Amino acid sequence: MYFREVPELQKSTVRIKDPERVAGIIRAMKEQGTHKLQVISDFDMTLSRFGCNGRRCPTSHNILDNSRVVSEEGRRQLKDLLHYYYPIEIDPKRTLEEKRPLMVEWWSKAHELLSQQKILKSDIPQIVRESDVMLRDGFDELFNRLHKYNVPLFIFSAGVGDILEEIIRQANVFHPNVNVVSNYMDFDDNGVLRRFKAPLIHTYNKNNSVLRDTEYFQQLSARTSIILLGDSMGDLTMADGVPSVENILKIGFLNDKVEEQRERYLDAYDVVLESDETLDVVNGILRFVLTET
Ligand code: TMP
Ligand code: MG
Repeated sequence: MYFREVPELQKSTVRIKDPERVAGIIRAMKEQGTHKLQVISDFDMTLSRFGCNGRRCPTSHNILDNSRVVSEEGRRQLKDLLHYYYPIEIDPKRTLEEKRPLMVEWWSKAHELLSQQKILKSDIPQIVRESDVMLRDGFDELFNRLHKYNVPLFIFSAGVGDILEEIIRQANVFHPNVNVVSNYMDFDDNGVLRRFKAPLIHTYNKNNSVLRDTEYFQQLSARTSIILLGDSMGDLTMADGVPSVENILKIGFLNDKVEEQRERYLDAYDVVLESDETLDVVNGILRFVLTET
């Protein structure tokens, strides 16, 4: 029956292991009302697109790597790191315990390389403007509806905070209900990148252990309905710091190695979106949950 209420769930990209459960969660969220809802989302490859015109879209790190401010040699080294570590990041045969130290290695080496490039804070707007980054179709509807209904949006990202903030600023959707926790650049007095600020956030420590801003979820303790958006198995723990959860709907974008990862994603995420470059399903659910009847 929820197909009538949220027709977007009929899209061919949607897979759901337990449709009754999903229908129950969505209905409970609507009953609880707007003032109980919060959205917790990953950024790279969740709010931003994975592919466009048959090519991969850049992550917030890749935007820097590919920009004119990084030397040829630096770019080559950053690409080598990506080609070595990304297959490890998404390897279904390795455990999270095995992956964690390797992700720390990847992020540390990449941040070290970027910090040697004399990147200027004032370069960032142009770096973003000249990049191939794209937000998923329907991003404006998502951000604008959450703002309109005063629903907090928490972006929890292992990418680069300065870059992703600039992306949403240039897209005119960096509204006051948006909060970001991510890896931020540390510039010296001349505005030159020196290092990245701690704590380091990588794909598999997106949980309470790195939330400096632990007050954030405490302040929102009445917001017990949660929509979680992610694309990696590491995104599933992003809501762990929420003090009391009554309803949580986990929506996962399955972008890469779709056949190979399908079962794992279906077990972990309530709704799986396979090679879907849009936010249609999320917007459909929010349209239903946030509209008074
Ligand atoms: P997130 O989507 O969970 O925030 O993770 C960020 C993504 O960034 C993750 O899929 C790996 C990717 N990444 C790069 O593309 N280049 C890099 O140098 C690093 C450290 C990460
Ligand atoms: Mg991601």
